[in-house]
Amino acid sequence: MGVKNICCIGAGYVGGPTMSVIALKCPDIKVTVVDLNEARINAWNDENLDNLPVYEPGLAEVVSKSRGKNLFFSTDIDTAINKSEMIFIAVNTPTKSYGEGKGMAADLKFVELCARQIARVAKNDKIIVEKSTLPVRTAETIQTILDSTGNGVKFEVLSNPEFLAEGTAIDDLFKADRVLIGGNQTPSGKKAIQVLVDVYSNWLSPKQILTTNVWSSELSKLTANAFLAQRISSINAMSALCEATEADVDEVAHAIGTDSRIGSKFLKASVGFGGSCFQKDILNLVYLCRFFNLPEVANYWEQVIKLNDYQKHRFAKKIITTLFNTVNGKKIAFLGWAFKKDTNDTRESAAIYVADHLLEDGANIHIYDPKVSESKIKADLVSLWELRGISESRISQKLAHIFVHKDYNEALNNSHAIAILTEWDEFITYDWNSIYQNMYKPAFVFDGRNILDADVLNKIGFQFKGIGKC
Ligand code: UDX
Ligand code: UDX
Repeated sequence: MGVKNICCIGAGYVGGPTMSVIALKCPDIKVTVVDLNEARINAWNDENLDNLPVYEPGLAEVVSKSRGKNLFFSTDIDTAINKSEMIFIAVNTPTKSYGEGKGMAADLKFVELCARQIARVAKNDKIIVEKSTLPVRTAETIQTILDSTGNGVKFEVLSNPEFLAEGTAIDDLFKADRVLIGGNQTPSGKKAIQVLVDVYSNWLSPKQILTTNVWSSELSKLTANAFLAQRISSINAMSALCEATEADVDEVAHAIGTDSRIGSKFLKASVGFGGSCFQKDILNLVYLCRFFNLPEVANYWEQVIKLNDYQKHRFAKKIITTLFNTVNGKKIAFLGWAFKKDTNDTRESAAIYVADHLLEDGANIHIYDPKVSESKIKADLVSLWELRGISESRISQKLAHIFVHKDYNEALNNSHAIAILTEWDEFITYDWNSIYQNMYKPAFVFDGRNILDADVLNKIGFQFKGIGKC
């Protein structure tokens, strides 16, 4: 029999959009998204769809079509668990910031809490779906907790990792390359897999739905992210060599990307990848490899992260050396703070690390991002500094050099240099002639995303530096 009630614990970037699309595509299923965070749930319920807690093109429309009909957002986690036959876990699994595995392993504290809560509350059999990205064999942990602390009800644990990318989440959900469902290869496990296959079959074809054993599914998510990030670090490594040899990294990327064996995607050189997944998942993979005594494999993947750190610092260093070896007291304008365009998400954004590096050299940083608020930008920096153990007074001193603007002209006027950190489309259409007139000379542009036309900017008079270009 098909599922009639679904609940999802975690109303974040993954849980919110995924459940909104399931509700839209499965009008016969009641979907309830629950979260501990009351403010977040209130925002999901806000009548003004501009106030949804996640910015994602197309999301507001999807939410408006189903909310109040078969899509609900609530903080009443116990009731939602009880009434649902299928429960997704989409809580965050950050890198551990303490104790064993600090800085590497995934912190499964929230996942464990969810499992305990489900076990305590559940009165009838349920299918538990891991949506959060988890280390391989986590399903075993969840199953153990459910079975040993539950009320004797039966649980089947499935892995159904999310492959959506932020900024294109709704499109990715509508037209997924594939959905992956892993489960136990027992009769009841296979039955549970089929129940979830039926949910996705409401809008995806059988070809798009892959089923595997539970461990392959868990590991495939980490592997997919590791491969994607590795391609970016590979092209970014080449970008440094391009700058030294007068090759152009975009030309190299195009030349190799036309080889169908390599393919053209994820070859855009940049100031470095960010986002909530790549770094966290690779660190987690590295930790797992070390745990299973595979140091060569661990070191191989760790290099992807090291290269990414190198790229962020290389960009910041280039700004400093080009500006005659100091940015002390200079106004450096940042265009963009989000980790990529079309999202307000800033987790692990390269901008945070570039800003931190330039602040150490005494820069005044003026930031404009079309979707990221001043409080978010400052909170990103403060949490980085707190993590490093920097004192409160030093943090206040540093923050005094951060200025966030709602009007991009205010950020750019009278600046010594502009750094592009996010590839927002609107930056391309700015009037670069008039921007040039209002800057100190020589006027520098450091394009960390290679979105501007170097010839046009050089002609205007700018000293233009792209990534992987001379
Ligand atoms: C999260 C994970 O970061 C990622 O590893 C995984 O692939 C998918 O889920 P995301 O949705 O982006 O991604 O996280 P976030 O936006 O932080 O949302 C998680 C939500 O869970 C938060 O709203 C938080 O309040 C909620 N939560 C957390 C609970 O409701 N209960 C908890 O015990 C912990
Ligand atoms: C990623 C995966 O793509 C997705 O499948 C998974 O579910 C979650 O992690 P996301 O982090 O949302 O998604 O964005 P993605 O488009 O992958 O970009 C990640 C980072 O890499 C961004 O900072 C982006 O700017 C950067 N990037 C991407 C590049 O620098 N070059 C590229 O060619 C592609």
